[in-house]
Amino acid sequence: MSQNAALAPHASVWEGPLLDGFGRLHTDLRISVTDRCNIRCFYCMPAENVQFRPREELLSFEEIARFVCVAVRLGINKLRLTGGEPLVRHDLHKLVALLAGIPGVRDLALTTNGMLLAEQAEALRRAGLRRLNISLDTLSPSAFRQIARRDGLERVLEGIAAAQRVGFDSIKLNAMAIRGITEAEVVPLARFARQRQLELRFIEFMPLDAEGRWQSDQVLSGAEILQLLEAEFGRLVPVPPKQPGQPASDYRYQDGGGLVGFINPVTQPFCHDCNRLRLTAEGQVRNCLFSTVEWDARALLRGNGSDADLAWLIRQCVAAKKAGHGINSEEFVRPQRAMYQIGG
Ligand code: 5AD
Ligand code: SF4
Repeated sequence: MSQNAALAPHASVWEGPLLDGFGRLHTDLRISVTDRCNIRCFYCMPAENVQFRPREELLSFEEIARFVCVAVRLGINKLRLTGGEPLVRHDLHKLVALLAGIPGVRDLALTTNGMLLAEQAEALRRAGLRRLNISLDTLSPSAFRQIARRDGLERVLEGIAAAQRVGFDSIKLNAMAIRGITEAEVVPLARFARQRQLELRFIEFMPLDAEGRWQSDQVLSGAEILQLLEAEFGRLVPVPPKQPGQPASDYRYQDGGGLVGFINPVTQPFCHDCNRLRLTAEGQVRNCLFSTVEWDARALLRGNGSDADLAWLIRQCVAAKKAGHGINSEEFVRPQRAMYQIGG
């Protein structure tokens, strides 16, 4: 379901913080730049015959930048670019430069699978990208093939090395945790991250896979992974959150091996202090990964919508946000879109 701005905006659309009905302040915007991807992770995409959106439906960089200018006037100050795989738009550094130049953008990050990072890391950094999250679920080429249904581990590792050479403010590794696969990966991934002084984060599997095969027993909880890590590296010490609303619980190795984090949306939902909004690649605004409703910003961007119309649309979307995703409740309804069509 898609919604258009229902009421004419008025002057006060620019006044006051971006609060939802539960008092949650929205400061973070996730921007998907494409639904395309160069691999096919089973927890996200179909294996074959993916129906991608026609290119003309995707927002241009200028359209994204205009949307962001409006969002920033409403109090958004943190941006994250996602996909699909964002780097399949090879000139993504141009978008980064546009966004980095918007006054009020305090943080600009990118989530990538790393396959095209070796080629693009330097241009991205020069354009003003500050932080990177690189997905790395395994260090085994055969497990990579099983998960991503393509080869590519070597390229991802080259991408990580290139990003480290370029030097970002922060580079984190994201590992999807899947029961039956990830148990064997936990310690090798942690060793890899510790050696390279990268923060590793384990993410619980959410029901956002395109094939609709998610089952709750495939969720390997953050608590279980913590135990596996402690058995190898000794006790982990909780670190207070760096930012309010951050989804990860971070821990410190006692031997000085750095940080490791857990994003536990299934076993420890963090919806109560969610500060995030999402813009899909084709210009729909969502207030949650699990939204079943979207607000059509592209219609305004390509019609003759004013900035105030866009601001009003964003406010309506925020105002309609539900308390939480309800994955664990009987009434839970999966969104129609899968992860690659929303943006992680
Ligand atoms: N559940 C949780 N996280 C997911 N991602 C992709 N699909 C899912 C899912 N079903 C995450 C991956 C990747 C990021 C882009 O989104 O961990 O790092
Ligand atoms: Fe591609 Fe990321 Fe989805 Fe994997 S999780 S298929 S890398 S978009």
